[in-house]
Amino acid sequence: MNLIKVKSYDELSTKAASIICAQVVSKPDSILGLATGSSPVGTYKKIVEKCAAGEVDFSRVRSVNLDEYVGLDGSHEQSYRYFMDTHLFDHINIDKKNTRVPCGIAEDLAKECADYDAYIKSIGGTDLQVLGIGVDGHIGFNEPDDHFTLATRVADLDESTIDANARFFASRDEVPKQAITMGIGAIMSAKKIVLVANGKAKKEIIEKAFTGTITPQITASILQVHPDCTVIYSEE
Ligand code: F6R
Repeated sequence: MNLIKVKSYDELSTKAASIICAQVVSKPDSILGLATGSSPVGTYKKIVEKCAAGEVDFSRVRSVNLDEYVGLDGSHEQSYRYFMDTHLFDHINIDKKNTRVPCGIAEDLAKECADYDAYIKSIGGTDLQVLGIGVDGHIGFNEPDDHFTLATRVADLDESTIDANARFFASRDEVPKQAITMGIGAIMSAKKIVLVANGKAKKEIIEKAFTGTITPQITASILQVHPDCTVIYSEE
């Protein structure tokens, strides 16, 4: 595991964007696993700039996102489909037909989860997975537990996650209590992982997750055994 500490959010975003773009340049039909949340916003902005400058071509790229809130459809401003469209997909030359985000309003959520895993398996897993990390150590919405769960599934969000995400909604009550999340199996099957984290609030969990014991109570800690994982952290 490679832990890179940088001085600013801008530096973090530049570094992460350069790794993701290098992946696409070296394999134009790359399959990218993507994350939402505040951490990768700067990274996606830099990718948009690089794409506009003609440095990278996303026309053959496919993507799968980590998660989606249960109950929100893609037109809801806080849905992760909406986030991906507005922060990245609408501004690069990716074919949206090749972008997949779990459907949070599927009638049969269990089937949606099983189909999602089957799709990831059918495309041979991701070449590069982008991750953020929650203050409780979650990746995707794999919250602290007594075991690691491999499958994509509907997960209950921890109170600390609901608190953290309340800033994006008009009130805490509006934050969905469940999300579809890619499991640890699909995440760990990525050939390469880049995790971005910033801010003092993440300092303690970064240390615990990446230098402490590997435990399902801090799901990100499993990344210590991934063969190609880079964590980029800025205190800013
Ligand atoms: C988002 C996701 C979450 C976030 C995490 C950190 O798709 O999977 O695990 O990465 O909650 O969120 P931010 O970056 O907003 O602190």
